[in-house]
Amino acid sequence: MSAPRKILVTSALPYANGAIHLGHLVEYIQTDIWVRFQKMRGHECWYVCADDTHGTPIMLRADKEGITPEALIARVHGEHSRDFAGFHVAFDNYYSTHSEETRFFANDIFGKLKAAGLIEVRPVEQFYDPVKAMFLPDRYIKGECPKCGAKDQYGDSCEVCGAAYAPTDLKNPVSAVSGATPVRKSSDHYFFKLSDPRCQAFLRRATREVCKTQPEAVNKLQEWLGTEGENRLTDWDISRDAPYFGFEIPGEDGKGTGKYFYVWLDAPIGYFGSLKHLAARTPQIDVAAFTDKAAALKAGTELYHFIGKDILYFHALFWPAELEHAGYRIPTSVYAHGFLTVDGQKMSKSRGTFITAESYLKQGLNPEWLRYYYAAKLSATMEDIDLSLDDFIARVNSDLVGKYVNIASRCAGFIHKRFDGALALASSDLLSDAQAAGESIAALYEAREFGKALREVMALADRANQFVNDNAPWELAKKAGAEAQLHAVCSEALNLFRLLTIYLKPVLPKLAADVEAFLKVAPLAWSDAARLLPGGHRIGEYKHLATRVERRQIDALVEANKESLAPSPAPQAHSQQRHAEHQQHAEEKTAVSLISIDDFTKVDLRIARIASAEHVEGAEKLIKLTLDLGTETRTVFAGIKSAYDPATLTGRLTVMVANLAPRKMKFGLSEGMVLAASGDGPGIFLLSPDSGAQPGMRVK
Ligand code: 2FM
Ligand code: ZN
Repeated sequence: MSAPRKILVTSALPYANGAIHLGHLVEYIQTDIWVRFQKMRGHECWYVCADDTHGTPIMLRADKEGITPEALIARVHGEHSRDFAGFHVAFDNYYSTHSEETRFFANDIFGKLKAAGLIEVRPVEQFYDPVKAMFLPDRYIKGECPKCGAKDQYGDSCEVCGAAYAPTDLKNPVSAVSGATPVRKSSDHYFFKLSDPRCQAFLRRATREVCKTQPEAVNKLQEWLGTEGENRLTDWDISRDAPYFGFEIPGEDGKGTGKYFYVWLDAPIGYFGSLKHLAARTPQIDVAAFTDKAAALKAGTELYHFIGKDILYFHALFWPAELEHAGYRIPTSVYAHGFLTVDGQKMSKSRGTFITAESYLKQGLNPEWLRYYYAAKLSATMEDIDLSLDDFIARVNSDLVGKYVNIASRCAGFIHKRFDGALALASSDLLSDAQAAGESIAALYEAREFGKALREVMALADRANQFVNDNAPWELAKKAGAEAQLHAVCSEALNLFRLLTIYLKPVLPKLAADVEAFLKVAPLAWSDAARLLPGGHRIGEYKHLATRVERRQIDALVEANKESLAPSPAPQAHSQQRHAEHQQHAEEKTAVSLISIDDFTKVDLRIARIASAEHVEGAEKLIKLTLDLGTETRTVFAGIKSAYDPATLTGRLTVMVANLAPRKMKFGLSEGMVLAASGDGPGIFLLSPDSGAQPGMRVK
């Protein structure tokens, strides 16, 4: 093999205030497969990632939970790390953008852009919340759509008529943070001068290069750039005013400026921050060889960013332009993928298809089923990929259990029982073909055509199964004098199984490790396909390698993800998460599925008087309510702490679901649920009846 390549690979940094779900996992599984493949090929490949920790939503979320942003991001870091490990996503480093390493690179890049004359300060007028004393990002302003008059619309676009506008166009705007009427206020902002001819000329060249494997991405970028001579890109506002959770922008003489880097400025820089952190415990890594323009050119290193198509703008325009003009290396390629749909539709909480990584694992589903299914669906394009639940069951059962594992399960027992675990020397055209297929399968992995790669592997598995069927070892085992043939057939089949394992290992790392233990071989590398197991090699006893997906497991998973009437936190604002949740809110506003009156009357809604309300020791969101129903009292834990002080709740009337199955919670038994309203912005609002209603009355 030629000299090993030196490769740095990243996946987009997830925001530190939301759970990882199956939509996110498309990207992490895609990247992890590619990285594992590169490592199996013998290349030096580093896979880094981090939590994206800065910005207003994270600051406000921490505020709402009554904790510091640092405490929030530390907790979420634990949850994200757990979920990724659960799906065998093996980062070499999973770090945080809230780190000295990231700050170092952010300051360095900013300083160099400034020295190059590409930073400019100018005033910007924006909405300001006089109560919270903060400038409001667009999505924290709500009001009436200037076009159709729809109420309760975000500051950037109307979900009813689809109009896009500036927040200052909204009629009767209110701050979603405090409810106050925002005022217009001006302050100085730092801009990265993307409109500078140097940036324009550079991007015109570079975007073709950076997205060369994805013509649809190049087209999009060319559209954004406009034709030669046109100057469509406007300068990019990279600063935010305090209060902001982020890095303060350094001023002259080591003084701070009181302004902060916008979260999207330091997010991709977090890739390098994570690498630097990894390098501190990995002497082999020379950070400059991956980040500095001249050093990278000399060392011939490669840099790849796997991202969702919604953040192409940031990764293929802003980011390369910043890097180039600060003397840093630019990405070798940016690889964008499409979004996940479930059963052909956007993920939805009401349908139970907004499935979290945690719930998938908690329900006891095998993470490698999902890895295999995603891989089978993935290509190098930006097309959306669909998780069809029926197809998921069928595909996993037929390919993994019915084809792949079946080869070993039908042959291993004979080797163990009849030949003391020792294989015969094997050689055949079928084996040579399977060995030769390694290079074309590798080329497909390299090109991120995982679906095609797996189809080739499964075609080999079909041939291997046909070979076993034709030779029927179970018949040979009963036939006198067929000992040698039985030995040869089973040995050939197990050698085929070993080759298939090599080819599947990037996708199924855990299963491959189990196979390595069963075959008693060292961890398999790609080049091991060039050799077969020697005659006399002793394998271990065959133990069950894979189970089938059962329909009831999928039903239970969907059921567990159906959202109840309980208020949910405000959504995060970006990426697949934004995509999915935005869609979901829009969809649920317009397309709540219909129920009959009988369905409705199954819910026993009652007026309840809050007899007492107390804080719950150790619970971030809960208040313990004792509810008086006239004839009995109930204990209910309600997730309303962010919105209510217990002292103000005692004595008031509200509405509860009285026939909800009691739920055992960490803090005690919850015997029902109180009803509250919530929207996309912050705020939870308990329902109250008109005066005259009495505890115990039925609501219908
Ligand atoms: O869209 C998102 O979810 C962002 N947190 C992705 C950041 S990727 C990189 F730039 F850090
Ligand atoms: Zn409208």
